[in-house]
Amino acid sequence: MKAPPDTWQRAQAWVGQGVDAIDTPSLVIDLDAMERNLARMATFARERGLRLRPHAKMHKSAELSRLQMAQGAVGVCVQKTDEALRLAAAGVGNIYISNEVIAAHKLERLAGAVRDRAARFALAVDSAEGIDRLAAALQAAGVHEAAAIDVFVEIDVGQGRCGVPPGEAALALVRLIHQHPAMRWAGLQAYHGGAQHRRGAAERADAIAASAQAVRLTLDALRQHGLHAPLVTGAGTGSLVNEAASGLWGELQAGSYLFMDADYATNERDAASPVFEHALFVKSQVMSRSADHAVCDAGHKSHAIDSGLPRVAHPAGLVFANGGDEHGVLRAAAPGAPLPALGDTVWLIPGHCDPTVNLHDFFVGVRGGLTQGHVERLITIDTRGALA
Ligand SMILES: Cc1ncc(COP(=O)(O)O)c(C=O)c1O
Repeated sequence: MKAPPDTWQRAQAWVGQGVDAIDTPSLVIDLDAMERNLARMATFARERGLRLRPHAKMHKSAELSRLQMAQGAVGVCVQKTDEALRLAAAGVGNIYISNEVIAAHKLERLAGAVRDRAARFALAVDSAEGIDRLAAALQAAGVHEAAAIDVFVEIDVGQGRCGVPPGEAALALVRLIHQHPAMRWAGLQAYHGGAQHRRGAAERADAIAASAQAVRLTLDALRQHGLHAPLVTGAGTGSLVNEAASGLWGELQAGSYLFMDADYATNERDAASPVFEHALFVKSQVMSRSADHAVCDAGHKSHAIDSGLPRVAHPAGLVFANGGDEHGVLRAAAPGAPLPALGDTVWLIPGHCDPTVNLHDFFVGVRGGLTQGHVERLITIDTRGALA
């Protein structure tokens, strides 16, 4: 899925040029910072003997998925059927939909891709009906191969969203999965999204300690009936050190570590966590000036504001205020501090990376830093708008 040809072609002309050539507003990756994040996360997982399956719902890109897999990730996670199918079409070979899929037409599309071996797929379930519906779709698609799709049973480990309660409830679902030869029971999905953004490291540790208790209860209940979970998968950027240290989770699903948004930067870092740097920016330009404020050309059509407004990375000393869809209002953080001039560049760190990425057709990859660097390549955001 390329951007409209005019935009895409114009942007191609920036490749090889200095950062000044990048039109505004644009979504820019500092490739050097991103690659440091990539390597630190890969090392963290490798040193602990854990599988890494980063969440591609964050970057929505086949190229970045492949980059993560080239550094040791076993595959990627997504949340949506169409995200999975688009990434598969773009050559990503191992994709886990870490979410429940119930609609017959979605399962039909997924089953068709399983039959065509478009990738190795996995899916989360939390109901007998979900399993029955998946089985019906696989059968209708003519999937006869044994263990053609991996199926994880999701347990609610504290978020109060999807998942069966911890303990016995998983048992019936695992037994049902075992009745369908085309499905392989791959283990438990245990993700606590609500824990990720608790600001204190100790608060996050407490939340995941409770999640671990829920996992333990479930594993024990299964074990009593002779069922051994092959894997427990979960964790995000905020809490991954806790799941990693628990001895229960075997696979980490963190996504945001690659870009680190402004919201995540307000978490107190756990001492055991790798240091992740901001690598995603919106480049904007000052288009209007008054005595007490400047206005840049990036409003909330260029960055999501569900987790707060962007932070100004550069120039220093500015505070971003909501100026609406296409504008951002910049004020001096301290009285008398200088405001940028008309035409100046302003670099913003988005509040929340996932929905910000979903607003853009491509990333502009910059090598050599945001002041002296040049545009190395454009990276397509393949699953933009893949919401079904
Ligand atoms: C199921 C699941 N796993 C992992 C993640 C990754 O979390 P993060 O991007 O905060 O690292 C998410 C994010 O919402 C998620 O929903």
